[in-house]
Amino acid sequence: MTNIIQSEGLTKVYTDFWGRPKRRALENLNLNIEPGQIYGLLGPNGSGKTTTIKLLLGLIFPTKGQVTIDGLPPSNNESRRNLGFLPEESYFYEFMNAEQTLEFFGRLFGMPKKERRRRSRELIEWVGLENDRKRKLKEYSKGMRRRVGLAQALFNDPKLVILDEPTSGLDPLGHRDVKDKLIELRDQGKTILLSSHLLADIEDVCDQVHVLYQGKTIRQGSLADLTSKPGLYDLTIQSANPEILEAITAAITETGASVLSQNPSRETLEAFFVRIFRAGKKRSERYDRKKLLEDLKDDLDPAAVDGAKDTPAAADPAAEKNAEAAKE
Ligand SMILES: Nc1ncnc2c1ncn2[C@@H]1O[C@H](COP(=O)(O)OP(=O)(O)OP(=O)(O)O)[C@@H](O)[C@H]1O
Ligand SMILES: [Mg+2]
Repeated sequence: MTNIIQSEGLTKVYTDFWGRPKRRALENLNLNIEPGQIYGLLGPNGSGKTTTIKLLLGLIFPTKGQVTIDGLPPSNNESRRNLGFLPEESYFYEFMNAEQTLEFFGRLFGMPKKERRRRSRELIEWVGLENDRKRKLKEYSKGMRRRVGLAQALFNDPKLVILDEPTSGLDPLGHRDVKDKLIELRDQGKTILLSSHLLADIEDVCDQVHVLYQGKTIRQGSLADLTSKPGLYDLTIQSANPEILEAITAAITETGASVLSQNPSRETLEAFFVRIFRAGKKRSERYDRKKLLEDLKDDLDPAAVDGAKDTPAAADPAAEKNAEAAKE
Protein backbone atom coordinates (compact mmCIF):
# COMPACT_ATOMS: atom_id res chain seq x y z
CA MET A 1 0.00 0.00 0.00
CA THR A 2 1.33 3.48 -0.85
CA ASN A 3 1.71 5.77 2.11
CA ILE A 4 -0.50 8.83 2.09
CA ILE A 5 2.11 10.74 4.10
CA GLN A 6 5.77 9.89 3.83
CA SER A 7 8.74 11.78 5.18
CA GLU A 8 12.42 11.03 5.33
CA GLY A 9 14.90 12.76 7.58
CA LEU A 10 12.58 15.74 7.93
CA THR A 11 14.42 18.43 9.87
CA LYS A 12 13.51 22.00 10.69
CA VAL A 13 15.81 24.59 12.19
CA TYR A 14 14.15 27.97 12.69
CA THR A 15 16.48 30.83 11.93
CA ASP A 16 16.53 34.47 12.98
CA PHE A 17 16.24 37.51 10.72
CA TRP A 18 19.91 37.13 9.72
CA GLY A 19 19.50 33.43 8.86
CA ARG A 20 21.35 32.30 11.98
CA PRO A 21 20.03 29.06 13.55
CA LYS A 22 17.69 29.88 16.42
CA ARG A 23 15.82 26.72 17.32
CA ARG A 24 16.15 23.10 16.22
CA ALA A 25 12.43 22.22 16.24
CA LEU A 26 12.45 18.89 14.41
CA GLU A 27 15.14 16.30 13.76
CA ASN A 28 15.15 13.45 11.27
CA LEU A 29 11.46 12.72 11.29
CA ASN A 30 10.50 9.61 9.32
CA LEU A 31 6.76 9.21 8.83
CA ASN A 32 5.13 6.33 6.95
CA ILE A 33 1.39 6.79 7.26
CA GLU A 34 -0.85 4.32 5.48
CA PRO A 35 -4.30 5.47 4.37
CA GLY A 36 -7.43 4.74 6.40
CA GLN A 37 -6.10 5.21 9.90
CA ILE A 38 -6.04 7.68 12.76
CA TYR A 39 -2.42 8.64 13.34
CA GLY A 40 -1.53 10.50 16.52
CA LEU A 41 1.40 12.88 16.74
CA LEU A 42 1.96 13.12 20.44
CA GLY A 43 4.33 15.04 22.64
CA PRO A 44 4.61 17.75 25.27
CA ASN A 45 4.47 21.49 24.50
CA GLY A 46 7.25 22.58 22.16
CA SER A 47 8.08 19.05 20.96
CA GLY A 48 7.61 19.89 17.26
CA LYS A 49 4.03 18.79 16.49
CA THR A 50 2.83 22.03 14.88
CA THR A 51 6.16 22.38 13.07
CA THR A 52 5.63 18.91 11.57
CA ILE A 53 2.09 19.81 10.50
CA LYS A 54 3.26 23.08 8.90
CA LEU A 55 5.89 21.14 6.96
CA LEU A 56 3.29 18.62 5.78
CA LEU A 57 1.08 21.46 4.59
CA GLY A 58 3.92 23.24 2.81
CA LEU A 59 3.45 26.34 5.01
CA ILE A 60 7.14 26.23 5.95
CA PHE A 61 10.07 24.53 4.25
CA PRO A 62 12.33 21.85 5.71
CA THR A 63 15.95 22.61 6.49
CA LYS A 64 16.73 19.02 5.48
CA GLY A 65 14.81 15.96 4.34
CA GLN A 66 11.71 15.44 2.25
CA VAL A 67 8.01 14.92 2.61
CA THR A 68 5.29 13.79 0.20
CA ILE A 69 1.49 13.79 0.47
CA ASP A 70 -0.02 11.08 -1.68
CA GLY A 71 3.27 10.89 -3.55
CA LEU A 72 3.36 14.63 -4.33
CA PRO A 73 5.22 17.52 -2.71
CA PRO A 74 3.05 19.49 -0.20
CA SER A 75 3.15 22.61 -2.37
CA ASN A 76 1.41 20.74 -5.22
CA ASN A 77 -2.18 21.89 -5.75
CA GLU A 78 -3.37 18.37 -6.47
CA SER A 79 -2.17 17.14 -3.06
CA ARG A 80 -3.88 20.14 -1.37
CA ARG A 81 -7.20 19.49 -3.08
CA ASN A 82 -7.72 16.34 -1.04
CA LEU A 83 -6.62 17.80 2.25
CA GLY A 84 -8.53 19.35 5.16
CA PHE A 85 -6.81 21.22 7.98
CA LEU A 86 -7.77 22.39 11.45
CA PRO A 87 -5.11 24.82 12.72
CA GLU A 88 -4.07 25.13 16.37
CA GLU A 89 -6.16 28.31 16.52
CA SER A 90 -8.82 29.22 14.00
CA TYR A 91 -9.25 32.83 12.97
CA PHE A 92 -12.76 33.57 11.78
CA TYR A 93 -14.67 36.70 10.78
CA GLU A 94 -16.35 37.40 14.11
CA PHE A 95 -19.41 39.12 12.64
CA MET A 96 -20.38 36.07 10.57
CA ASN A 97 -22.47 33.21 11.89
CA ALA A 98 -21.50 29.53 11.53
CA GLU A 99 -23.56 29.08 8.38
CA GLN A 100 -22.10 32.15 6.66
CA THR A 101 -18.58 31.14 7.72
CA LEU A 102 -18.84 27.69 6.20
CA GLU A 103 -20.50 28.98 3.05
CA PHE A 104 -17.66 31.49 2.74
CA PHE A 105 -15.16 28.62 2.76
CA GLY A 106 -17.31 26.81 0.21
CA ARG A 107 -17.00 29.85 -2.03
CA LEU A 108 -13.20 29.70 -1.67
CA PHE A 109 -13.38 26.10 -2.88
CA GLY A 110 -15.38 27.31 -5.87
CA MET A 111 -18.46 25.25 -4.93
CA PRO A 112 -21.81 26.19 -6.50
CA LYS A 113 -24.20 28.02 -4.14
CA LYS A 114 -26.69 25.16 -3.74
CA GLU A 115 -23.93 22.67 -2.99
CA ARG A 116 -22.17 24.88 -0.42
CA ARG A 117 -25.50 25.56 1.35
CA ARG A 118 -26.27 21.85 1.54
CA ARG A 119 -22.78 21.00 2.75
CA SER A 120 -22.75 23.74 5.38
CA ARG A 121 -26.16 22.62 6.80
CA GLU A 122 -24.99 19.00 6.85
CA LEU A 123 -21.73 19.80 8.65
CA ILE A 124 -23.32 22.20 11.15
CA GLU A 125 -25.66 19.45 12.19
CA TRP A 126 -22.83 16.92 12.25
CA VAL A 127 -20.78 19.01 14.69
CA GLY A 128 -23.89 19.69 16.83
CA LEU A 129 -24.28 23.43 16.21
CA GLU A 130 -27.68 23.44 14.49
CA ASN A 131 -29.29 25.50 17.28
CA ASP A 132 -26.54 28.12 17.16
CA ARG A 133 -26.01 28.32 13.43
CA LYS A 134 -27.42 31.85 13.18
CA ARG A 135 -25.39 33.28 16.10
CA LYS A 136 -22.37 35.43 15.35
CA LEU A 137 -19.05 33.68 16.00
CA LYS A 138 -17.97 36.42 18.42
CA GLU A 139 -20.61 35.00 20.79
CA TYR A 140 -19.29 31.45 20.49
CA SER A 141 -17.47 29.65 23.30
CA LYS A 142 -14.03 28.15 22.69
CA GLY A 143 -15.48 24.66 22.23
CA MET A 144 -18.10 25.91 19.78
CA ARG A 145 -15.40 27.63 17.71
CA ARG A 146 -13.45 24.37 17.67
CA ARG A 147 -16.51 22.65 16.21
CA VAL A 148 -16.82 25.29 13.47
CA GLY A 149 -13.12 24.75 12.74
CA LEU A 150 -13.67 21.01 12.44
CA ALA A 151 -16.62 21.54 10.08
CA GLN A 152 -14.49 23.90 8.01
CA ALA A 153 -11.64 21.35 7.82
CA LEU A 154 -14.08 18.82 6.36
CA PHE A 155 -15.88 21.13 3.97
CA ASN A 156 -14.29 19.81 0.77
CA ASP A 157 -14.79 16.17 1.90
CA PRO A 158 -11.00 15.61 1.97
CA LYS A 159 -9.45 12.19 2.01
CA LEU A 160 -6.68 13.36 4.36
CA VAL A 161 -7.59 15.43 7.44
CA ILE A 162 -4.87 17.09 9.52
CA LEU A 163 -6.00 18.34 12.91
CA ASP A 164 -3.74 20.30 15.28
CA GLU A 165 -4.99 19.69 18.84
CA PRO A 166 -8.62 19.02 17.80
CA THR A 167 -9.87 18.52 21.35
CA SER A 168 -8.40 21.67 22.87
CA GLY A 169 -11.04 23.81 24.57
CA LEU A 170 -13.65 21.06 24.56
CA ASP A 171 -15.40 19.68 27.64
CA PRO A 172 -15.34 15.89 28.26
CA LEU A 173 -18.56 15.44 26.33
CA GLY A 174 -17.09 17.44 23.43
CA HIS A 175 -13.89 15.34 23.58
CA ARG A 176 -15.89 12.16 23.27
CA ASP A 177 -18.03 13.66 20.53
CA VAL A 178 -15.02 14.70 18.45
CA LYS A 179 -13.30 11.37 19.01
CA ASP A 180 -16.44 9.49 17.92
CA LYS A 181 -16.58 11.69 14.83
CA LEU A 182 -12.93 10.94 14.01
CA ILE A 183 -13.67 7.23 14.23
CA GLU A 184 -16.68 7.78 11.92
CA LEU A 185 -14.43 9.57 9.40
CA ARG A 186 -11.81 6.83 9.60
CA ASP A 187 -14.53 4.24 9.00
CA GLN A 188 -15.52 6.17 5.86
CA GLY A 189 -11.97 5.53 4.63
CA LYS A 190 -10.39 8.89 5.45
CA THR A 191 -6.92 9.23 6.94
CA ILE A 192 -6.60 11.46 9.98
CA LEU A 193 -3.43 12.88 11.39
CA LEU A 194 -3.95 14.61 14.70
CA SER A 195 -1.65 16.15 17.24
CA SER A 196 -2.11 16.37 20.97
CA HIS A 197 -0.11 16.93 24.11
CA LEU A 198 -2.78 15.16 26.18
CA LEU A 199 -1.84 11.56 25.64
CA ALA A 200 -4.54 9.95 27.76
CA ASP A 201 -7.07 12.11 26.02
CA ILE A 202 -6.72 10.59 22.57
CA GLU A 203 -5.23 7.18 23.22
CA ASP A 204 -8.57 5.51 22.65
CA VAL A 205 -8.87 6.74 19.03
CA CYS A 206 -5.40 6.44 17.53
CA ASP A 207 -4.46 3.35 15.52
CA GLN A 208 -0.81 4.40 15.36
CA VAL A 209 1.11 6.96 17.37
CA HIS A 210 4.35 8.83 16.98
CA VAL A 211 5.80 10.29 20.14
CA LEU A 212 8.02 13.37 19.85
CA TYR A 213 10.16 15.01 22.49
CA GLN A 214 12.24 18.11 21.78
CA GLY A 215 11.90 17.47 18.06
CA LYS A 216 13.13 13.88 18.25
CA THR A 217 11.19 10.66 17.77
CA ILE A 218 10.95 8.83 21.06
CA ARG A 219 8.67 5.95 20.06
CA GLN A 220 6.36 5.04 17.20
CA GLY A 221 4.05 2.17 16.41
CA SER A 222 0.61 0.82 17.10
CA LEU A 223 -0.89 1.99 20.34
CA ALA A 224 -1.49 -1.62 21.39
CA ASP A 225 2.22 -2.44 20.93
CA LEU A 226 3.45 0.67 22.71
CA THR A 227 1.24 0.41 25.73
CA SER A 228 0.83 -3.33 26.33
CA LYS A 229 2.71 -4.84 29.27
CA PRO A 230 4.06 -8.29 28.31
CA GLY A 231 2.79 -11.09 30.50
CA LEU A 232 0.19 -8.92 32.28
CA TYR A 233 -3.55 -9.31 31.70
CA ASP A 234 -6.59 -7.45 33.04
CA LEU A 235 -9.56 -9.66 33.79
CA THR A 236 -13.04 -8.20 34.31
CA ILE A 237 -15.41 -10.53 36.12
CA GLN A 238 -19.16 -10.22 36.17
CA SER A 239 -21.27 -11.25 39.19
CA ALA A 240 -18.17 -11.65 41.35
CA ASN A 241 -18.29 -11.96 45.14
CA PRO A 242 -15.55 -12.45 47.78
CA GLU A 243 -15.82 -16.28 47.63
CA ILE A 244 -15.51 -16.35 43.83
CA LEU A 245 -12.54 -13.96 43.96
CA GLU A 246 -10.85 -16.12 46.58
CA ALA A 247 -11.34 -19.26 44.47
CA ILE A 248 -9.99 -17.51 41.35
CA THR A 249 -6.97 -16.16 43.23
CA ALA A 250 -6.25 -19.65 44.60
CA ALA A 251 -6.53 -21.20 41.11
CA ILE A 252 -4.22 -18.58 39.62
CA THR A 253 -1.65 -18.94 42.40
CA GLU A 254 -1.63 -22.70 41.90
CA THR A 255 -0.49 -22.26 38.28
CA GLY A 256 2.57 -20.29 39.45
CA ALA A 257 1.18 -16.94 38.25
CA SER A 258 0.17 -14.28 40.74
CA VAL A 259 -2.60 -11.73 41.18
CA LEU A 260 -0.95 -8.29 41.42
CA SER A 261 -4.06 -6.20 41.89
CA GLN A 262 -7.72 -6.78 42.45
CA ASN A 263 -9.99 -3.75 42.38
CA PRO A 264 -13.67 -3.09 41.75
CA SER A 265 -14.10 -2.33 38.04
CA ARG A 266 -14.58 1.40 37.42
CA GLU A 267 -15.49 3.44 34.38
CA THR A 268 -13.32 6.40 33.46
CA LEU A 269 -14.50 9.86 34.49
CA GLU A 270 -14.98 10.62 30.80
CA ALA A 271 -17.24 7.60 30.35
CA PHE A 272 -19.19 8.60 33.49
CA PHE A 273 -19.63 12.16 32.27
CA VAL A 274 -20.67 11.05 28.80
CA ARG A 275 -23.15 8.48 30.15
CA ILE A 276 -25.01 10.84 32.43
CA PHE A 277 -25.05 13.89 30.17
CA ARG A 278 -25.78 12.08 26.92
CA ALA A 279 -28.70 10.32 28.55
CA GLY A 280 -30.18 13.60 29.79
CA LYS A 281 -29.58 15.45 26.57
CA LYS A 282 -32.43 16.19 24.18
CA ARG A 283 -31.85 16.10 20.43
CA SER A 284 -31.93 19.88 20.58
CA GLU A 285 -28.56 19.83 22.51
CA ARG A 286 -30.24 21.30 25.60
CA TYR A 287 -30.30 19.37 28.83
CA ASP A 288 -33.61 17.93 29.93
CA ARG A 289 -33.30 18.51 33.66
CA LYS A 290 -35.94 16.06 34.79
CA LYS A 291 -34.64 13.26 32.58
CA LEU A 292 -31.09 14.01 33.72
CA LEU A 293 -32.06 13.75 37.40
CA GLU A 294 -33.88 10.53 36.62
CA ASP A 295 -30.75 9.06 34.98
CA LEU A 296 -28.54 10.36 37.74
CA LYS A 297 -30.57 8.93 40.56
CA ASP A 298 -28.31 5.90 40.99
CA ASP A 299 -25.23 8.10 41.07
CA LEU A 300 -26.45 10.98 43.22
CA ASP A 301 -27.26 10.72 46.88
CA PRO A 302 -31.05 10.80 47.43
CA ALA A 303 -30.94 14.02 49.46
CA ALA A 304 -29.42 15.88 46.51
CA VAL A 305 -32.16 14.64 44.15
CA ASP A 306 -34.94 15.48 46.66
CA GLY A 307 -33.36 18.89 47.28
CA ALA A 308 -33.32 19.56 43.55
CA LYS A 309 -36.99 18.67 43.30
CA ASP A 310 -37.76 21.39 45.87
CA THR A 311 -36.21 24.16 43.82
CA PRO A 312 -38.87 26.66 42.65
CA ALA A 313 -38.24 25.90 38.97
CA ALA A 314 -38.92 22.17 39.39
CA ALA A 315 -41.82 22.59 41.85
CA ASP A 316 -43.73 24.91 39.56
CA PRO A 317 -43.94 23.83 35.91
CA ALA A 318 -44.80 27.39 34.84
CA ALA A 319 -41.69 28.73 36.60
CA GLU A 320 -39.61 26.03 34.87
CA LYS A 321 -41.04 27.07 31.51
CA ASN A 322 -40.22 30.72 32.25
CA ALA A 323 -36.70 29.82 33.28
CA GLU A 324 -36.29 27.90 30.01
CA ALA A 325 -37.61 30.89 28.06
CA ALA A 326 -35.24 33.24 29.89
CA LYS A 327 -32.31 31.02 28.86
CA GLU A 328 -33.29 31.21 25.16
N1 LIG B 1 8.64 30.63 14.07
C1 LIG B 1 9.42 30.11 15.01
N2 LIG B 1 10.65 30.64 15.27
C2 LIG B 1 11.45 30.09 16.20
N3 LIG B 1 11.16 29.00 16.93
C3 LIG B 1 9.95 28.43 16.72
C4 LIG B 1 9.02 28.95 15.75
N4 LIG B 1 7.91 28.17 15.76
C5 LIG B 1 8.14 27.22 16.70
N5 LIG B 1 9.37 27.37 17.28
C6 LIG B 1 9.99 26.52 18.28
O1 LIG B 1 10.03 25.20 17.80
C7 LIG B 1 9.77 24.27 18.85
C8 LIG B 1 8.61 23.38 18.45
O2 LIG B 1 7.43 24.19 18.36
P1 LIG B 1 6.01 23.60 17.91
O3 LIG B 1 5.08 24.75 17.80
O4 LIG B 1 6.24 22.77 16.73
O5 LIG B 1 5.66 22.68 19.19
P2 LIG B 1 4.32 21.88 19.52
O6 LIG B 1 4.74 20.46 19.76
O7 LIG B 1 3.29 22.15 18.50
O8 LIG B 1 3.91 22.53 20.94
P3 LIG B 1 2.45 22.83 21.57
O9 LIG B 1 2.00 21.54 22.22
O10 LIG B 1 2.75 23.87 22.58
O11 LIG B 1 1.54 23.30 20.48
C9 LIG B 1 9.52 25.10 20.10
O12 LIG B 1 10.73 25.16 20.83
C10 LIG B 1 9.17 26.47 19.56
O13 LIG B 1 9.54 27.49 20.44
MG1 LIG C 1 1.42 23.00 18.57
